[in-house]
Amino acid sequence: MRTTLLLGVACLLSNAATQQFVMYTPGGDDTSVERADPIVSPGNISQHVHQIFGSNAFAPEVSYESLQKADCTTVADASNQGNAADNSIYWHPALYMEASNGTGYIRVPTNGHKLYYKNAGTGTPRDPFEFPHGFRMLAGDPFLRAAHPNLQRQNITQWICHQAVGMNQGTSGGFPTGVTNCPNVDGFNGAIHFPHCWNGGDFDPADPTAHVIYPSGDIENGACPPSHPTRLPHIFIENTFNLDAVYDAVKPDSFVLSQGDASGYGWHFDFFSGWKDGAIPALLAQCPQGSYGNEDIGTCPNFEPRSTPASECKLNTFFRENVNSPGKNLPGCNPIVDTNPAPQYVPAPRGVSSTHCTLVANGASSGNPPAKSSRTRGSKHSKTATAKRSKTSIAKTRTES
Ligand SMILES: *[C@@H]1O[C@H](CO)[C@@H](O)[C@H](O)[C@H]1NC(C)=O
Ligand SMILES: *[C@@H]1O[C@H](CO)[C@@H](O)[C@H](O)[C@H]1NC(C)=O
Ligand SMILES: *[C@@H]1O[C@H](CO)[C@@H](O)[C@H](O)[C@H]1NC(C)=O
Repeated sequence: MRTTLLLGVACLLSNAATQQFVMYTPGGDDTSVERADPIVSPGNISQHVHQIFGSNAFAPEVSYESLQKADCTTVADASNQGNAADNSIYWHPALYMEASNGTGYIRVPTNGHKLYYKNAGTGTPRDPFEFPHGFRMLAGDPFLRAAHPNLQRQNITQWICHQAVGMNQGTSGGFPTGVTNCPNVDGFNGAIHFPHCWNGGDFDPADPTAHVIYPSGDIENGACPPSHPTRLPHIFIENTFNLDAVYDAVKPDSFVLSQGDASGYGWHFDFFSGWKDGAIPALLAQCPQGSYGNEDIGTCPNFEPRSTPASECKLNTFFRENVNSPGKNLPGCNPIVDTNPAPQYVPAPRGVSSTHCTLVANGASSGNPPAKSSRTRGSKHSKTATAKRSKTSIAKTRTES
């Protein structure tokens, strides 16, 4: 893991107490990419494009039971052996940039993910220390467009451009500016912390972030508050975007997340647990702990590999449209709202666009998107605002692995 110097120190200090294990996806553009979201829009096309990984029981609508029918997963040890205990599915927004030749957006491919599961922080651990069946949660906020007023909440998301040399660009919060091609294997890295303090209740579609919150103080090692006293495993995921692969063809810094977020503060992640009973507590207790915790789940004595290698596990795509070069509108026609001054939040879009933009349903193309670009930001001004927000964000980073 590469993270900021200060985060690295925090890890060091807490390391003695932190049990953790680490998993990987195989690298390359290892996801299904489509407008599906079994948590927020179960059964239906979703508002924006996601990159989805995990078990091949992924579908637009899932349950704990349906996930158990998976026969492979893209989440693996360092040798590409899928983890047989984890039938979970994970997804995050796709990242787009503007093509420099004016043809519109192109998608930045991924180059793998790194998933950390930790026994971190204080509060009463759930017994057993694992997710209940049917558990699902969101991390981050798709509608956030500026630094969160709560300082602690600013540490949920991280954007770091990994250079070939030790100096890397970026830190917590939104996109850094002046980002170059990030040629290091960790590329342009968007990372996120999931919340782990639980109120014992179910996921509520009407209030999707009510059942879990972040601990007080440190996002990972803080204490669970009385409203959400039960501590669950902490999940931290690093996602590598292969910026180098598209860098020569895009306008620098023209990043926009699929929900229409050009700030990066709206980086978010979804998790639907499909873990087999008993597996997380056993892995946490028995995996060898290196200086930063176990770096490879394959070295755990109780790790059970799948027969299908993770790189051969493919998730189905259910909603077909051009998600790689969608033209001048993002799939779903999500407007880019990043005005000057940037609003803290943008309103949730009303309904879902399924019959125009770029969707091709049942093999029939719906044609070109509406001619008018939905980009509404005042580009010069908003870039200045963004630059101001991240002026101090060049941080020297350290390598943990
Ligand atoms: C899917 O969306 C349509 C249109 O918004 C709605 O009528 C329908 O009930 C939704 N289906 C499900 C399964 O949520
Ligand atoms: C956010 O993370 C930084 C390290 O990156 C740390 O110094 C700071 O204390 C954290 N803020 C809060 C409120 O947890
Ligand atoms: C514009 O650039 C994109 C990205 O490299 C490429 O896919 C597309 O073919 C180009 N279009 C034209 C008309 O040159």
